[in-house]
Amino acid sequence: MDLNQIICEDCVSFMKKIEDNFIDLTVTSPPYDNLRDYNGYSFNCEDIAKELYRITKKGGVVVWVVGDKIVKGNKTLTSFKQALTFQSVGFNVHDTMIYKKKNTPFMRSNAYTNCFEYMFVFSKGAPKTFNPLKEKTARNGFEMLVYNKKSDGVNKKVLGELKKEKTKTNIWEYAVGLGGTTTDRIAFKHPAVFPEHLAEDHILSWSNKNDIVFDPMCGSGTTCKMAYLNQRNYLGCDISQEYVDIAKQRMEDTISQKKVK
Ligand SMILES: C[S@@+](CC[C@H](N)C(=O)[O-])C[C@H]1O[C@@H](n2cnc3c(N)ncnc32)[C@H](O)[C@@H]1O
Repeated sequence: MDLNQIICEDCVSFMKKIEDNFIDLTVTSPPYDNLRDYNGYSFNCEDIAKELYRITKKGGVVVWVVGDKIVKGNKTLTSFKQALTFQSVGFNVHDTMIYKKKNTPFMRSNAYTNCFEYMFVFSKGAPKTFNPLKEKTARNGFEMLVYNKKSDGVNKKVLGELKKEKTKTNIWEYAVGLGGTTTDRIAFKHPAVFPEHLAEDHILSWSNKNDIVFDPMCGSGTTCKMAYLNQRNYLGCDISQEYVDIAKQRMEDTISQKKVK
């Protein structure tokens, strides 16, 4: 399988051409409950999960970003049904993470405004790579710290240094829309782009340089772009020729901008 290409094909038939244990990391987002009108697709979660399991290396990870539709006031929970499908074909549900959107429009009069989607982290066995992302701590520097509280109730204190950073939590927040999701105007010809930083943060967390990063439903090519910019190999696929054309143009723009720098 040639790397660093984006192919127009149904993802299951595309994956059938990929050898076993080939992919280090998949970062993808399926169509949400027909929530958006893509240009025609067929979607079989079990077939996709089985093929992803076969082509993922031992210790490889699949990040599955998904939200639920509300039908007659009832959340479909398709996200969780899909997660259970991934579990049933052999993946570990390594984590259920939240993608929180910084700016979300008010949408329902009788419920709180939904501001998140799920990011399921499935792994084939224990993840072989975890490069934890860090964030600054609210308090740092030297403080008198309690180090030994005995039954006499006396707090003994010692001067200690608080850490400047800690591992991030599993709720990640991103601005969405032009300038937040991406500055690439061409990407917005696709109706459901996820933020570049979301893809990048997962790529940095679950893969290393020169690894192979895959998106079987790559849409505007966000995962491919961020894999390329972070020195990973990429492989993208989408059923829609229109979206593949967008993704390819976006990659060409990215590559030529990088050459100019
Ligand atoms: C939520 S969008 C992905 C958006 C992408 N993450 C981005 O940032 O642009 C889902 C994509 O899945 C594609 N798709 C749906 N069914 C597919 C299938 N069976 N095989 C390949 N792609 C499919 C749609 O065409 C759509 O572009």
